[in-house]
Amino acid sequence: MYLAQIYRCTIVIQYTIRQILTIKKYNIMKRTYIKDLNNFIGKEISISGWVDIRRDHGKLIFIDFRDMSGKIQAVALPSNKEAHEVANRIRTEWVVRATGIVNKRPEKMISKNKETGVIEPNGDIEIELKNIDVLNEAVTPPFDIRSDGKEVGEETRLKYRYIDLRRHRSQKNIRSRHRIVKHVRDMLDENGFIEIETPILTKSTPEGARDYVVPSRIENGLFYALPQSPQQYKQLLMVAGFEKYFQIARCFRDEDTRSDRQPEFTQMDLEMSFVDREDVMALNEKMLIEIVTKQFPEKKIQAIPFPRITYKDSMDKYKTDRPDIRNDKNDPDLLAFCWVIDFPFFEKTDEDPLTGRSGWTFTHNPFSAPKPEFMSSLMKQENIGDILTTQYDVVLNGFEIGGGSIRNHTPAALQKVFEIMGYPKEQIEKNFGHMLHALGSGAPPHGGIAWGIDRLVTLMNNESSIREVIAFAKTGEGKDLMMDAPSEISEKQFRELGIEIKKKHK
Ligand code: AMO
Repeated sequence: MYLAQIYRCTIVIQYTIRQILTIKKYNIMKRTYIKDLNNFIGKEISISGWVDIRRDHGKLIFIDFRDMSGKIQAVALPSNKEAHEVANRIRTEWVVRATGIVNKRPEKMISKNKETGVIEPNGDIEIELKNIDVLNEAVTPPFDIRSDGKEVGEETRLKYRYIDLRRHRSQKNIRSRHRIVKHVRDMLDENGFIEIETPILTKSTPEGARDYVVPSRIENGLFYALPQSPQQYKQLLMVAGFEKYFQIARCFRDEDTRSDRQPEFTQMDLEMSFVDREDVMALNEKMLIEIVTKQFPEKKIQAIPFPRITYKDSMDKYKTDRPDIRNDKNDPDLLAFCWVIDFPFFEKTDEDPLTGRSGWTFTHNPFSAPKPEFMSSLMKQENIGDILTTQYDVVLNGFEIGGGSIRNHTPAALQKVFEIMGYPKEQIEKNFGHMLHALGSGAPPHGGIAWGIDRLVTLMNNESSIREVIAFAKTGEGKDLMMDAPSEISEKQFRELGIEIKKKHK
């Protein structure tokens, strides 16, 4: 009994001694984040991070270190030979663990904002270095990351994105994106929504853009399409009785890239059952206001409730369906949200060169319902050009940041939409049979919306391109320059997929 206790005690003592010796040997101290250094004045600390810049003043070597939480100036004095020798050797972007004492800076060395005179973060303290461990060396960076990057060509920035993302501007944008998305998730969760993932390998949906397709290996000649949006799946989740669905969803559209368009982008996609247009608009307006007030208190919303403009008035007055209604376009912190409503459901297609006839196509979303007063026109296929849809777009400072509608929840109404667009019966059955069957299987009235998350984050951060808020964005030609995609695949892959390329790119 006693022997066992003594034995256990010895083990514990041995373990503790070993721990103490290891800490001494490798000089391992608990890591302190740079943002917290102010709480350690006069104390010895250890930080881990990157060499932001190094200034050699002969005897004194100043180094700014950077971690995810901030920057701090450190000084290596010649009296500390070991630290001074390493400080001499290290270069920008090397990864280090540095140990030293946090000191208050003398008054005249305090770093202040040149315009406001306010002390910069950590501008009144510095570290007197005792020891620097080099954790990894780094080649000379291809560009300066201490600037905002506007002077560097975008292609170079995208090629070396893992370095470009270290700059303060990129870190701020990507972290802001996280906070917005987290806020949305929390709000929706509190409102009874659940997040459900939907497939990426799926079937082409008629969203209006070209699909990205993926060949099937098991069934040569058949293709999946990547989703342009989870539109059909979210409606099927309503049929399945979830009632309140959302998803931070990746969407893929093979269209020409612009500053507000990427081939793959992210939607905050939601759908609700037993709602009308007002319910969906009210919830979304409330969420957008809360994001601004909680996450961006410096910003001002021009008008609450958000003004509503009909498509016709918007076209008459602003010559666009995404009007920029800001009173003052010079104010970077002014947010002018508005809703655009009452869009025409259908528009005429171009004339067929053979028959000289033109047909109808949808303006926004074939799954939308008409406004209730136009339901009988839809069912009778009368005055098609006059039918207005329940579609609502939310526009911010001239950018469409979201859009949605109440859906046709009866199979007969959806069938009519496809008939008006001139789809033959067999094609309707082949492409949309599952939707028609689902709507006839106890589908509740439902509607929803999708926000363009990339666009929202861009505008909230006063950026002019969505590429600034996407960690690994693609170029204007849809290329990922860092990974070198799209790229060729092997002969073996072609054989397995039963694919032969007739015309190669240059
Ligand atoms: P829609 O096609 O209007 O609706 O898309 C919703 C929102 O997504 C954003 N968006 C894009 N953002 C970046 N790059 C793109 N290529 C891109 N395309 C669209 C826009 C747009 O407002 N299923 C419907 C939604 C619904 O009815 O519930 C849909 O996808 O901000």
